[in-house]
Amino acid sequence: MSINSSKHSLIFTLFLLFQLTSPITKALAGTPHLINFRSQNLYPESLAWDAKNQHFLTGSLNHRTISSISDAGIVETLISDTSLPENVTVLGITVDSLHNRVLAVIHAVHPLPPYNALAAYDLNTGNRLFLSLLPSDDQPALANDVAVDFKGNAYVTNSIGNFIWKINLQGEPSIFSKSARFTENPVDRDSPCNFCGLNGIAYVNNGYLLVAQSNTGKIFKVDAEDGTVRQILLNNVENLTCPDGVVLRSDGVVLVVSPEANKLWMLKSNNGWSEGVVYDKIDLGDEGYPTSVVARERDRMYVLYGYVKEGVLGSLGRESFRIEEVRSPKESEDENVWIYVMVGFGLAYFFYWRFQMGQLVKNMDKKIN
Ligand SMILES: *[C@@H]1O[C@H](CO)[C@@H](O)[C@H](O)[C@H]1NC(C)=O
Ligand SMILES: *[C@@H]1O[C@H](CO)[C@@H](O)[C@H](O)[C@H]1NC(C)=O
Repeated sequence: MSINSSKHSLIFTLFLLFQLTSPITKALAGTPHLINFRSQNLYPESLAWDAKNQHFLTGSLNHRTISSISDAGIVETLISDTSLPENVTVLGITVDSLHNRVLAVIHAVHPLPPYNALAAYDLNTGNRLFLSLLPSDDQPALANDVAVDFKGNAYVTNSIGNFIWKINLQGEPSIFSKSARFTENPVDRDSPCNFCGLNGIAYVNNGYLLVAQSNTGKIFKVDAEDGTVRQILLNNVENLTCPDGVVLRSDGVVLVVSPEANKLWMLKSNNGWSEGVVYDKIDLGDEGYPTSVVARERDRMYVLYGYVKEGVLGSLGRESFRIEEVRSPKESEDENVWIYVMVGFGLAYFFYWRFQMGQLVKNMDKKIN
């Protein structure tokens, strides 16, 4: 092969590769996973991922149930606790895989009589392990979301009282963190979430909690030992609008979802959450009121569209809900870059090999002649 034709074939090959890899990278990623599921009047507010049994779990606006949702959208009622007061809501739920339990926040929406509790159920049998009434000194309270640490302590946010309860492994409740930090920011009275303070909560491995406050758009770092609170400085954003569900991905990225703004924010920190940056901001589907987000294997992100607002406003009758996988365009770009880099290395290696073979053939020719 002459030098000229080899150069042409190189350019041609590169051209072909760039033409080919774009659809290939798209095909490798596939389309995001969409799970439609049907359950009359379920209106689930929160989502959890049960890694052991490989299905999602959701609560319900007033069925007093926890349901499992398979990847194929098969719904099964895992727990039905009719000993709870009629029509109460199963709000935040979380899987405590170390203790094989699911923890569920139970709240009675106005005008039902006040009721705030945390229930724990065995994941295998569905048996209730405890039902712990949450004390609020007769003040109005809204038990909302729950996170669990490695010892099995649960942390529940109070959206009206703006404090955090702690419930230990045995189910004994206490008021854990009632910091002035939680009430020092002005509340936007015109905001659709103005009634709702502390909301989504996530436990971070190094012994602290991250908590979102809906009506100020703030995120707090709470020490899981002593309950001391710091507001996290978010460097590059306007305030988050009505943040709701919060979850930690295994790579340390924190996901925050807002049903009012229809957004998923991806937050990162390189100093243990003294400060953070919004690293990506993703627009979600504008129908379905996405209140909850989870991360499952290989950091895949799934959002629940449970139409809770519709249910709370009283237009019951809905049967179909959905869970949707969400992809970060930024992270897909990064993946594409890596694929190009790998293809580049492959090509370089191939041409080097061809060059050596050429030399070898030449040397052999020399020897033979
Ligand atoms: C629960 O909801 C049903 C249906 O809306 C209603 O008929 C019933 O009276 C409610 N029960 C309570 C205790 O509010
Ligand atoms: C963000 O929140 C702070 C305090 O809560 C407020 O003073 C400020 O005006 C808000 N900024 C925007 C852009 O909304």
